[in-house]
Amino acid sequence: MSFVFENNQLVIKHENYTFELKSLANKTPVFVYDLNEVENRIRAIQEAFDHQVDIHYAVKANYNDFILKQIAQLGCGVDVVSLGEIDAATLNGVSAKNIVFSGVAKSVAEIKKSVETGIKQINVESLQELERIGEICKGMNRVANVSIRFNPDVDADTHPYIKTGFRENKFGMDQSFLPDIFKVLEKYKGFVKMIGLSIHIGSQLQDLKPYTEAILKSIPVYKQFQEKGYEMKTFNVGGGLGIAYDSINKQRDYLLIREFGMIVKDLLKDLNTRIIVEPGRILTGAAGILLTEIQYIKQTPYKNFAIVNTGMHHLLRPALYQAKHMIEPLIQKAGSNKETYDIVGPICESADTLGEQVYIQELKQGDILCIMDAGAYGYSMSSDYNLQPKAREVIVYDGETIEAKH
Ligand code: LLP
Repeated sequence: MSFVFENNQLVIKHENYTFELKSLANKTPVFVYDLNEVENRIRAIQEAFDHQVDIHYAVKANYNDFILKQIAQLGCGVDVVSLGEIDAATLNGVSAKNIVFSGVAKSVAEIKKSVETGIKQINVESLQELERIGEICKGMNRVANVSIRFNPDVDADTHPYIKTGFRENKFGMDQSFLPDIFKVLEKYKGFVKMIGLSIHIGSQLQDLKPYTEAILKSIPVYKQFQEKGYEMKTFNVGGGLGIAYDSINKQRDYLLIREFGMIVKDLLKDLNTRIIVEPGRILTGAAGILLTEIQYIKQTPYKNFAIVNTGMHHLLRPALYQAKHMIEPLIQKAGSNKETYDIVGPICESADTLGEQVYIQELKQGDILCIMDAGAYGYSMSSDYNLQPKAREVIVYDGETIEAKH
């Protein structure tokens, strides 16, 4: 269990403690992360794969220091996409050999750093990138482990902005690149070591069929590398598992993890490879909420607005992807009438709407609202637009709180 209502208030609940979120409500906006929940989810993934998996947490989802420390302590690695993310991970105890590097635009500096520190693998997204890695390694007289990011051309059911394995997406390389990939690998033999295949087909996926399709399309490609004599070691199925944004009860997330493990293990069982996963949202998304205080209630002839002290600058997802996050009162008032509100923030744009037509108990100035499932792509996508300060971040672990220093 994680976030639940108990005696009419939202609390964090685990076997060994109950934490009253109202103790954090005097200074909002604040992201609150339940680190025990993150840990439970990591263990659920390990178990779903019978511990035969390397978990590389996608740092972009939430790079809070305490979350990264926990990832490192549990023996997991990370998936990064920038120097900043490499630094954040290593500063918090992740060793270089537990880092995989994805992204379509890797700079010379990023590649040099990856080679220098000897990260586990670079997930290569283009021929020019492979050439660049080769040249850099030659110049440094070092060897880089690479994995090719394969674009399997599957159309996953998610928002178009976060589909990444479709042929029209900028990510990875499809089958037609293979002859040239072999040539470039040959050219940089001794400097570039081909060790695996990677895919990542999209984010917030709750249907596992596209994974099956993508893996089935990838296996023959993996085998072609083996036939060419490359000693393939890793098969990286990426991240992308979705969470139940429409419910406080998260049993579905755990079922999805279990099913994912079963399916992936089974599909890859004959390949004699090490499976890598790069989960982001499924680990941290439901483990975080954003607490905000209502500044004003504004009733117009057309709408009721609850105007809060957070907005698209702290949680961009509703504005960018029309994402729906549940919004709950911190304290449920017994017997209260229900009303419909647009929950909006301070930013000078009408896109700054966190919840549209939310049917909720009657609200008043000073009430605290909880925006659910804000633990992934919340703080990490936030900005200081309108020169608003960023939100606080507080970790709750075993009932104790730790505040992030910004
Ligand atoms: N691996 C790679 C190569 C990725 O690009 C991503 C996410 C992940 C792993 C982790 O995906 P996850 O397990 O979190 O779905 N800002 C969007 C999500 C963007 C995802 C980008 N890539 C959102 O708020 O929905």
